[in-house]
Amino acid sequence: MELNTALNWRYAVKLFSDRTVDAGTLERMLEATRLSASSYGLQPYRILLVSSGETRRELVQYSYGQDKVLHSSHLAVFAARTALDAGEIDRYIERVAQSQARPVQELDAYAQQIKGAIAGKDPDELLAWAKNQAYLALGNFLAAAAVQRVDTCPMEGFDAAGYDRVLGLRERQLATAVICPVGYRHPDDAYAGYPKVRTPYHQMIREI
Ligand SMILES: Cc1cc2nc3c(=O)[nH]c(=O)nc-3n(C[C@H](O)[C@H](O)[C@H](O)COP(=O)(O)O)c2cc1C
Repeated sequence: MELNTALNWRYAVKLFSDRTVDAGTLERMLEATRLSASSYGLQPYRILLVSSGETRRELVQYSYGQDKVLHSSHLAVFAARTALDAGEIDRYIERVAQSQARPVQELDAYAQQIKGAIAGKDPDELLAWAKNQAYLALGNFLAAAAVQRVDTCPMEGFDAAGYDRVLGLRERQLATAVICPVGYRHPDDAYAGYPKVRTPYHQMIREI
């Protein structure tokens, strides 16, 4: 499906049906998400795809009453890295060198630049930067889902500390940034019929 058609088709689903998204479709969506651009290419986030009903049931209490985290096919949790050490940046640079068949020394100045930029951020700044990258991935995830006629609902309405606790994220140096139930719209979801509300084109985009 053409991207603009898909973006007009999608909406933030309030009520999902009980239909499950198959593994191949999910993998294609997640692969598109993995290909997201990120600052320095570091991809400072991880994505948890939660299918377990038990875990999702536990998460409902931290979702401000939005039980679609349980009543959907899967729940994607975009978790930002809370720390990045110099060793990880070295490993990333090695991967760049290997993938692009370049000598690692050629990337030394780039490595130093990244290390300087990361070391210059305090923990809050680092987390905010990492969350920005996770949101970019979320955008691709929503678009990739829509192209395959899979429904989603991006969500910020949840208690991040509760999610981190249930999912054991803190000890993995991760923090929940944004979440997204995935599945298929229920025929009774009234929101499917509402027209899109967006800033008009010429108000959004100014050519200068
Ligand atoms: C980052 C983000 C957080 C959102 N949080 C919620 C949420 O917690 N619950 C919800 O029902 N919708 C949530 N939404 C959906 C928006 O309200 C919705 O995308 C917006 O109104 C535009 O409508 P549309 O996506 O249906 O076209 C969120 C959307 C984004 C992008």
